[in-house]
Amino acid sequence: MDLAKEYPKNLYIGIDISEMFPSEVERPSSATFIKANLLDGLPFENNSFDFVYQRFLGISLTEVQWKVKVIPELVRVLKPGGWIEIMEYDLIWFSLGPKTNVMLTKLKNKLQEYGINVIMSRKISELLKANNVHNVETISKSIPLGDWGGKLGRASLDMTPEEYDDCLEGSAREINEYKSYTMSHRYSMLVRYTLLTTL
Ligand SMILES: C[S@@+](CC[C@H](N)C(=O)[O-])C[C@H]1O[C@@H](n2cnc3c(N)ncnc32)[C@H](O)[C@@H]1O
Repeated sequence: MDLAKEYPKNLYIGIDISEMFPSEVERPSSATFIKANLLDGLPFENNSFDFVYQRFLGISLTEVQWKVKVIPELVRVLKPGGWIEIMEYDLIWFSLGPKTNVMLTKLKNKLQEYGINVIMSRKISELLKANNVHNVETISKSIPLGDWGGKLGRASLDMTPEEYDDCLEGSAREINEYKSYTMSHRYSMLVRYTLLTTL
């Protein structure tokens, strides 16, 4: 949306599995939104886009889906010489207090049971290279977590309601006390014209 407003001569297509798109009033005429499941394959021909941008799919995807479907699809629709940018954050936090550590270790273990890698964010560069995309520039930044207010689902935690409430209450306090933070990683690269040869 920001790019579409700033560079109105280009055409932009956004996709999401959920149809919660900006209203016609909000969206610039150069921006279109399509409901699509990335895991079914993107509804575009090969080499369609000059720029592909994806951000914060995070825990929506398993490690296998990232490897087998997502990165190959994003690269497939990018034109040779185009630009791809991916931004993901670590699903682990640093500088934690003991209660937060207990809570997040349980969450991490639960996510791993579903095949979700909590540091998939660190593997994007490697996956891009495996898809013949080189010259990857990585920018990693710390994100302070003060005044954290997100909700962690009770169902995803292997704890009693009392343990959960105790951890949650203690965790919110500890995050400020310990100055906890997480990391974001932005990968961007120019895709070179590459001739694939098979022997
Ligand atoms: C955390 S939001 C990020 C939204 C946006 N990219 C941003 O950075 O603000 C994750 C989005 O991914 C969408 N999503 C999850 N799985 C998807 C899939 N398989 N195909 C397409 N969209 C998906 C969700 O519906 C949700 O809107």
